[in-house]
Amino acid sequence: MAKLQGFEFWSRTLGGARHVVAPMVDQSELAWRLLSRRHGAQLCYTPMLHAQVFVRDANYRKENLYCEVCPEDRPLIVQFCANDPEVFVQAALLAQDHCDAIDLNLGCPQMIAKRGHYGAFLQEEWDLLQRMILLAHEKLSVPVTCKIRVFPEIEKTVRYAQMLEKAGCQLLTVHGRTKEQRGPLSGAASWEHIKAVRKAVAIPVFANGNIQCLQDVERCLRDTGVQGVMSAEGNLHNPALFEGRSPAVWELAEEYLDLVRQHPCPLSYVRAHLFKLWHHTLQVHQQLREELAKVKTLEGIAAVSQELKLRCQEEMSRQHGEKPASDLPFFHWICQPYVRPGPREGSRNAGACSKRALEEEEEGSTEVVSKNKQKKQLRNPHKTFDPSLKPKYAKCDQCGNPKGNRCVFNLCRGCCKKRAFKETADCPGHGLLFKTKLEKSLGCKGSQLGLQEPQQAGPGAPGGFSEVVGSALA
Ligand SMILES: Cc1cc2nc3c(=O)[nH]c(=O)nc-3n(C[C@H](O)[C@H](O)[C@H](O)COP(=O)(O)O)c2cc1C
Repeated sequence: MAKLQGFEFWSRTLGGARHVVAPMVDQSELAWRLLSRRHGAQLCYTPMLHAQVFVRDANYRKENLYCEVCPEDRPLIVQFCANDPEVFVQAALLAQDHCDAIDLNLGCPQMIAKRGHYGAFLQEEWDLLQRMILLAHEKLSVPVTCKIRVFPEIEKTVRYAQMLEKAGCQLLTVHGRTKEQRGPLSGAASWEHIKAVRKAVAIPVFANGNIQCLQDVERCLRDTGVQGVMSAEGNLHNPALFEGRSPAVWELAEEYLDLVRQHPCPLSYVRAHLFKLWHHTLQVHQQLREELAKVKTLEGIAAVSQELKLRCQEEMSRQHGEKPASDLPFFHWICQPYVRPGPREGSRNAGACSKRALEEEEEGSTEVVSKNKQKKQLRNPHKTFDPSLKPKYAKCDQCGNPKGNRCVFNLCRGCCKKRAFKETADCPGHGLLFKTKLEKSLGCKGSQLGLQEPQQAGPGAPGGFSEVVGSALA
């Protein structure tokens, strides 16, 4: 059957989904998606997966997708970051049987994306993006979609969206913030940009940014004319947002913990979710916040959540009819939006213990010292933590990651492996042996002997074919 495109894909395969849970690293895992679906979400995205690692590493595929396959978890879009058409398509081919579309992340503004050259850092590389989308559109059995950030100029954002549409993108999510609007500098998303894109393309568009409650969803649909609205932070603080409800936190926390028991995930994800759900209450019960950060088991986390529930219920019965004692929200035990503090307000998001949040802290603010840094400073009061005084590491000639000290090619391990494999050359610095005895005795490269077959690396050679490519084919 021919694959469905654009509006037909949205209305038939995605069931005309309007309420969409965003891709979220370490946070849009199966248990969370199921919870969100039970409470009004009609479409979910996986967290961003790294295409190259997905192709190379069978365990990564298993842990991040194959073990998470669940019939109730549809429609589902798998998101990848990638910067190479072949790698993107190889990864997508390995994922397409378990989802309804493949999304390319063109919105990640984090430092890790800058270093890895993906996400929003590809937004000026239109030729590369065209090739990636064209190839995916041609080779995949499911549609390819993109999630973008806007440019400051509406007109350029529109041309960008049209370029992606022309290349074969079948649905576009527009996050109405620029690449620079992140962390403490996030600010408001521009629905004006989103509206202009919506008008200019003939494929469905999802709006992303500024969604904290159902009224925002309805206003956004009306003001921009988009097909659906995607939420990330709003959904993390209130997974029942799309139902238009604000239940007691414990109700959703307990339901989520039950789902995690059925569909286990790393404890760090669970902890981060509970920090967000209980965000307001944890400002009142600071000691339980420390407990939550310390416990090492799922049942330990459930016990802290239960204790928070008891404290809230006591407080509810005490406060009956009284006025709030502080300027914190009166009903801090109710799922409610969290408004990020501006750059000068200084206070941190209590739940922000994810890698992403820490990265934002490191990259986004020069005034606020992260918790980890504060701890390090306490342990070493005389040490200087000024990043400008840190020794600079030598960079890989190709990707900018730290290079191997003794690498013969001046590359990092990953790039060295590729080069050594391609050229059938050894790198003793990285312990990679590709040349055969014959080649060594002749003192020339395998390619000169016409020895291109990967088996030339010899059985068991460290970093040889089986290690470099074998896992990608598993
Ligand atoms: C914890 C977290 C993880 C995220 N991970 C991803 C991701 O994997 N891929 C992506 O495209 N965006 C990611 N984002 C960005 C969101 O999808 C979304 O674009 C952004 O948060 C703006 O939406 P919001 O205003 O509803 O939060 C993440 C956001 C959060 C809060």
